[in-house]
Amino acid sequence: VFGNVVRAPEDPILGVTVAYNKDPSPVKLNLGVGAYRTEEGKPLVLNVVRKAEHLLVNDRSRIKEYLPIVGLADFNKLSAKLILGSDSPAIQGNRVTTVQCLSGTGSLRVGAEFLAKHYYQRTIYIPNPTWGNHTKIFTLGGLTVKTYRYYDPVTRGLNIQGLLEDLNSAPSGSIVLLHACAHNPTGVDPTFDQWGQIRQLIRSKNLLPFFDSAYQGFASGNLDKDAESVRMFVSDGGECFIAQSYAKNMGLYGERVGALSIVCRNADVASRVESQLKLVIRPMYSSPPIHGASIVATILKDRNLYNEWTLELKAMADRIITMRKQLFDALSARGTPGNWTHIIKQIGMFTFTGLNTKQVAFMTKEFHIYMTSDGRISMAGLSSRTVPHLADAIHAAVTT
Ligand code: LMR
Repeated sequence: VFGNVVRAPEDPILGVTVAYNKDPSPVKLNLGVGAYRTEEGKPLVLNVVRKAEHLLVNDRSRIKEYLPIVGLADFNKLSAKLILGSDSPAIQGNRVTTVQCLSGTGSLRVGAEFLAKHYYQRTIYIPNPTWGNHTKIFTLGGLTVKTYRYYDPVTRGLNIQGLLEDLNSAPSGSIVLLHACAHNPTGVDPTFDQWGQIRQLIRSKNLLPFFDSAYQGFASGNLDKDAESVRMFVSDGGECFIAQSYAKNMGLYGERVGALSIVCRNADVASRVESQLKLVIRPMYSSPPIHGASIVATILKDRNLYNEWTLELKAMADRIITMRKQLFDALSARGTPGNWTHIIKQIGMFTFTGLNTKQVAFMTKEFHIYMTSDGRISMAGLSSRTVPHLADAIHAAVTT
């Protein structure tokens, strides 16, 4: 009966790892998926995560009962504080409802389904380009996806004019997806002043901001700084959606830990919204898993563990920044044609190199370097040892 099922293509990002795994070459390099690697090229489990797990395992009072539909209460409270700030008036006024979800993807999906059911305007504007999964999440979540201009390939920076024009002509009430920091895939973020302009426009046009915060602490190494954009929107008293992920900043990728926060006008609305979120979640996966959220809650509520986390987080962010410098220097040393300053200007996990599909295919074929076909490379997958190989490949790709 399934004889007619057509083979689907691999995922544009996760499929890169599938291809990489099949390559027997000893020099192969996976710069596709945004997953942190050490200088030795190994996945990293943070020390602080190991410590938290140790505490959890040795606590005999811990049980494996189902969590409530909305997840672990401590985790939810602490996650809202982490993104909004511990002194956030929205939290103090009980205007925020937070539900534990399956990482960033799950948080976005639950938010989308809630909006499709309860919000009058079903159109969401997402930046062009954006993370490959956004369109699918929002479309399958019941929203209509449109794009706004974001990246300018000529300056390799933000097209603020185009962005403001497109949001200005969006129908009133439209939802706008914003990357809180470290825009994926471009590594290009608005400046603080530009965020101010975007906020003013969004509020004056009555648009609804939906933040995807997948890299808090990863962009600058500072958790508060990377939450500035979100906090700016929340401090004006307006509504706001925020999807948080702990995949990158705590290295909890496969644990699937995230949260959806909805900032409402008042406490009464927030509690009604929460009651409806439960109706979205229960038939989808019933309730979220307990382990990852317990790790996060353990770390966030203990001052020492929290401080240790911030140090490890900063070390990851710093290593990525060092990789940017090394790659830039390596291309300069080779005299590779073109201007490569965007490598050091862009921020977060990725560099949007400007290499085209053909050049990417060339680098994969000739150098066994794997990356998404849009020319995005995960800086977190690079190390001092592999920078020369990548620089050789880029040089060959642009000069061949
Ligand atoms: C990425 O963009 O590489 C990451 O966010 C991982 C993913 O799920 O796509």
